Amino acid sequence: FVPRVLAGRKVVLTAGPTFEAIDPVRGITNISSGKMGYALARACAQAGAEVVLVSGPVSLPVPAGVRRVTAGSALGMREQVFAALPGADVFIGVAAVADYRPLEVAEHKIKKSGETLEIALTPNPDILAEVAARQDAPFCVGFAAESRDLDAYAEGKRRRKGLPMLVGNLVSDGMGGDENTVVLYDDAGRHPLPRAPKAELAHGIVSHLARLLDGCRPQ
Ligand code: C5P
Repeated sequence: FVPRVLAGRKVVLTAGPTFEAIDPVRGITNISSGKMGYALARACAQAGAEVVLVSGPVSLPVPAGVRRVTAGSALGMREQVFAALPGADVFIGVAAVADYRPLEVAEHKIKKSGETLEIALTPNPDILAEVAARQDAPFCVGFAAESRDLDAYAEGKRRRKGLPMLVGNLVSDGMGGDENTVVLYDDAGRHPLPRAPKAELAHGIVSHLARLLDGCRPQ
């Protein structure tokens, strides 16, 4: 039984990595299984929300009750997010968006030369920060995967991006696997959740965000 704490709400999420092309056969990407984002999309649907999942390249099945749209690059993901955003009450950025993309995409396959090859990179837009900065911003939730100093980096990110809630985890605790250890950060402080399968954590995250959304103090 899942309490329908998001009934009547629309949730837009991003999940997975992005892929930034270098040439027709190569690119830069981040390591992300997409499992946490997909689990969260599923949990939101089970909680009664209308869910749009903007997904980078992963091979995971579409969760029941979720509308999935696929994206390749960060720019493509941003476009899909903004298309899905009208009417959204909640935006959750779970995707591991590439911070940079090649400044130019070669039209043809780059040939080996034995020389050093330099690829100029340009920063990608921060989708979550952009959504959170809008006048009509939905309730925005961020994720932060850090390799150390989780509390300082996660809370710093939450404040910098102007988010009411952020989910932090240590890379060593959860990446790629089916379980994770996460800490939730909000204006009231830090709330560690017990280590659990991602599907279970997703329900904990949903119930915390639903309480904040309803203006109640989470227990
Ligand atoms: O700054 P960092 O990439 O660690 O922030 C992580 C959070 O910001 C995640 O919620 C991620 O989905 C989001 N993000 C984004 N667009 C970017 C970079 C990060 O939406 N270009």
